[in-house]
Order: sequence, then C-alpha cells, then structure tokens
Amino acid sequence: MIEELEQIQKDALAAIAAVDSETALEDQRVGFLGKKGRLSVAGAGMRDVPKEQKPAVGQKLNEVRTAITEALESKGAEMIAARDAKQFASIDVTLPPRPLPQGGLHPLTQVQDEAIQILRRMGFALADGPEIETAWHCFDALNTPEEHPARNESDTFYFENGKILRTHTSSVQIQTMLKNPPPIRIIAPGSAYRRDEIDATHLPVFTQLEGLYVDTHVTLADLKGTLEYFFREMFGNSIDVRFRPHFFPFTEPSFEVDLKLQVKGKSDKWIEIAGCGIVDPNVFIEVDGKRKQPAYNPDEVSGFAFGMGIERLAMIKYEISDIRHLIDNDTRFLSQFR
Ligand code: DAH
Repeated sequence: MIEELEQIQKDALAAIAAVDSETALEDQRVGFLGKKGRLSVAGAGMRDVPKEQKPAVGQKLNEVRTAITEALESKGAEMIAARDAKQFASIDVTLPPRPLPQGGLHPLTQVQDEAIQILRRMGFALADGPEIETAWHCFDALNTPEEHPARNESDTFYFENGKILRTHTSSVQIQTMLKNPPPIRIIAPGSAYRRDEIDATHLPVFTQLEGLYVDTHVTLADLKGTLEYFFREMFGNSIDVRFRPHFFPFTEPSFEVDLKLQVKGKSDKWIEIAGCGIVDPNVFIEVDGKRKQPAYNPDEVSGFAFGMGIERLAMIKYEISDIRHLIDNDTRFLSQFR
C-alpha cells in the first residue's frame, strides 16, 4: 500500500508539472483528488490494511494528499502569474497618462469677477434687482418719459402684464435708492435684454455692470477718476480711454466712454464700453416721491452713475473681434481661457 501511495504521488507530481493549461490542471486535480480520483480510490483500501500498519499507512496517505495539493496550488499560482504577465506585457507603463478633461470659468465670468474685485477694492458693494421689471423702475423713475424711443414695443420685450425684461441694469439704481438712504456706493452686474439684431458687437441678451455713487458733493471729477482708475486696473496703464458727451435721460451731463480695441492684424477701433454721468435731479425727486421717508433731496445729495457692457470688456481684454464667440460655446474658443 505504501509503495502504491508513493507511486501515485510520483505520477501526480509529474502530471501536474507537465500541465500547460488551467483546465488541464483542473483535470489532474479531479483525476487524483476527486471522489473517484486515484488517491481517493487508494484511500478506500485502508479498510483492508492490517490494524498494526494502519497508523503508518494513514500518515503516508496524508503526506501524499498534502504533497499533491501543494503541487496543484503552486502550479495554479504559477499559471495565473504567467497569464497576468502576458496581459501586462502589452501595456507600456512608462507612457505619460492621458490628461483628464478640465473645465474652467467662462471668459465673461472671469472678466466680471475681475471687474467686481477692482470696484470692491474702491468701496463699491454688490447690489441686484429683478430681470423682469416694471416699466416704472426701468424708465419712468429714470426720467425716461412715455414717448422715449427706448420704450418702443420694437425695442423692448414686453410681457402681457405690462412688465418688461429690463433693457438695462440702471433699474437697480432705483431699487437700491428705494431701499437705502444715502450714502450709496453700489455695483450691480447682471443681464439686460433688447430687441437688437445680432452682429459682431450686439446681442439681444447681454451683461452689464451698473454703478451708482450718491453722497454729498459728488462731482464729475469723481466719476472720471473712478472710471479711468478702473480701466487702468483692468487693462493696464497703456489703455486709451475717451469720454464723449452724450445724452441719457437719467444723467446730466452724460458721457459715453470708448476704449481703443487693438486686435493683432486689424486696424485699431474705438469701441463704446459704457455710459455714465451725473445723476439727474429728476431721478432723486422721482425716487423720493416713492420713499416713505424722503432722503434724496437733490439740493443736498449728488451722485454719479455708470453702466458698462461686460461682453465688450471681455472683447477688449482678450482681443476678441466678434461678440458672438462669447455665446457660441465652442470649446476650441473657450479652452483658450482656462
Ligand atoms: N443704461 C445705459 C445703457 O444701457 C448705460 C448707462 C448710461 C448707465 C449712463 C448709467 C448711466 O448708469 O449713468 O445704455
């Protein structure tokens, strides 16, 4: 019996060593250790072994089973390692990783954030108001009478209830003065809506940044100094700024501010960036008429206001020749601003 067991061990180890696939290995396991395998069949022979030999034969049986089991396991591990090595051989671990796609802030957001930062350093606080406005906040309170062309059906988006999509952020001036007494020093970035034809410098939905400063003895010099400082902070000292006399119903005197747009390969061009002026006394009178406690006596307070186009700021900052790039959402364009 002992010799038989040793022969089984020899045969098993040789067979296992010769195996060349994982299924062949499994066949060998079944062939030797399975219920009808050679070792199991031999083990059944224990019954006929004389009593005094039983311990020795039993021990041998265990040794052989252990030896075969270990051989099966190590051959199995060897084969798995070989399979993995073959798979990894086709992977070049020295290749650089593929970059993960990474987003970034839209150039309009970046410019708006920077503008807000500069003006906050100068003491302006953020304010806001609704985009769906009453005609009173948008026009009447801003000294813009019924017959003014800005109020035309063809220039403005009217709702059936008479409200409108605000045509400018100047309505936030009114919202703020109704809620707060002077002194006021606010900026209000936000969307504005007009029935404009889309072209290289116009969009029907665009972004403005409104500013209002009301205190005693506010002058045109304060306005000019504030805006010139702002533009230099934004664009650097070499930026060309031009104030042109203009008309706005809610300021007197009023100006338009132009900046020189310099795009490589194109001729320089002045582009209108903002409207501004000294708050018209009629605006204070109109606001005070609506306040529970009058606080804006035009003989005591004065102020300046401005409103600029954020898209236009971005065009100058990044030398963009067509405003439509800013709304096309073309990643080839946007990825340049990450
Ligand atoms: N609201 C004007 C516009 O949209 C811009 C403007 C002009 C704003 C003069 C002002 C201002 O605050 O004082 O064209």
